[in-house]
Amino acid sequence: MPGMMNYLLVIVLTLCPLCCVTSSSHDRINAFEPYFLQIIDGDIEFLDTHCRSSNDDFGNKTMTIHSSFSWKFRRNIGETTRFVCTFWWKTADGLIYKETEFDVFNQQIGDECGKNLFRTNRCFWSVTQSGFYFAKGQPFNWMFKRSW
Ligand SMILES: *[C@@H]1O[C@H](CO)[C@@H](O)[C@H](O)[C@H]1NC(C)=O
Repeated sequence: MPGMMNYLLVIVLTLCPLCCVTSSSHDRINAFEPYFLQIIDGDIEFLDTHCRSSNDDFGNKTMTIHSSFSWKFRRNIGETTRFVCTFWWKTADGLIYKETEFDVFNQQIGDECGKNLFRTNRCFWSVTQSGFYFAKGQPFNWMFKRSW
């Protein structure tokens, strides 16, 4: 019955990818939490900021007091999504007074910010003269994270 065998083969080939997708969909869905991350200049008159990941490079941003910039992304499958920013606190005459670089998003910060799958997790960094503060949900209840 070669016709029957072909028919069965078609059924198996058609259903198999569905099985695979179904069995791994739990992991996949877990890996795509949506995030909104905002960098806020708290009180530094001349601040340059450069944020990037392995996929994105936002270039140098020139910031002033209370200016901000933000981006949205989804966490990747292995939760290895990482954004690094370099911050330059500059003087009025354009000299670099202080400079530092750190992860504004990585696995640990992502977990701290939130892991909601169906609502955007909102993470905030405030850059101030006294250091770097983090908040989740809303830009208040700041937690001190690091100094310059
Ligand atoms: C970004 O800004 C820093 C600090 O002002 C500066 O040293 C660097 O050259 C700038 N990079 C680019 C690509 O403009």
